[in-house]
Amino acid sequence: MKLIIATIKPFKLEEVREALTEAGVRGMMVTEIKGFGSQSGHTEIYRGAEYAVNFVPKIKLEIVVPATMVDQIVDTITNTAKTGKIGDGKIFVLDVEQALRVRTGETNEEAL
Ligand SMILES: Nc1ncnc2c1ncn2[C@@H]1O[C@H](COP(=O)(O)OP(=O)(O)O)[C@@H](O)[C@H]1O
Ligand SMILES: [Mg+2]
Repeated sequence: MKLIIATIKPFKLEEVREALTEAGVRGMMVTEIKGFGSQSGHTEIYRGAEYAVNFVPKIKLEIVVPATMVDQIVDTITNTAKTGKIGDGKIFVLDVEQALRVRTGETNEEAL
């Protein structure tokens, strides 16, 4: 299993969620965050305004998937979240050791 951490532009959340559901993702965590990348947020546009501060609002997605699905899911996020403008976000992929569904005791891929 792998954990995909992706930052996306907030207005892209619904479109990305729909595409991920179609791609077979059954659960995810969504957090409103602030962050910055290589431009330190200085030149980013958010809701029509150029951000003059260091931190720009983003959505962070955390998605645990079977390792065999990673490439497809990363592609889905990339294709859906991309505007071609700065601040489109980043995707990180990490190993996951264990998963457990509390209600049933199912483990690992069965728990996803
Ligand atoms: N090296 C990093 N480590 C962790 N989070 C990052 C990193 N780079 C970017 N991010 C997160 O991704 C968001 C979008 O980054 P983005 O501006 O698209 O990156 P860049 O300017 O480097 O191309 C940032 O607001 C931040 O939350
Ligand atoms: Mg940037």
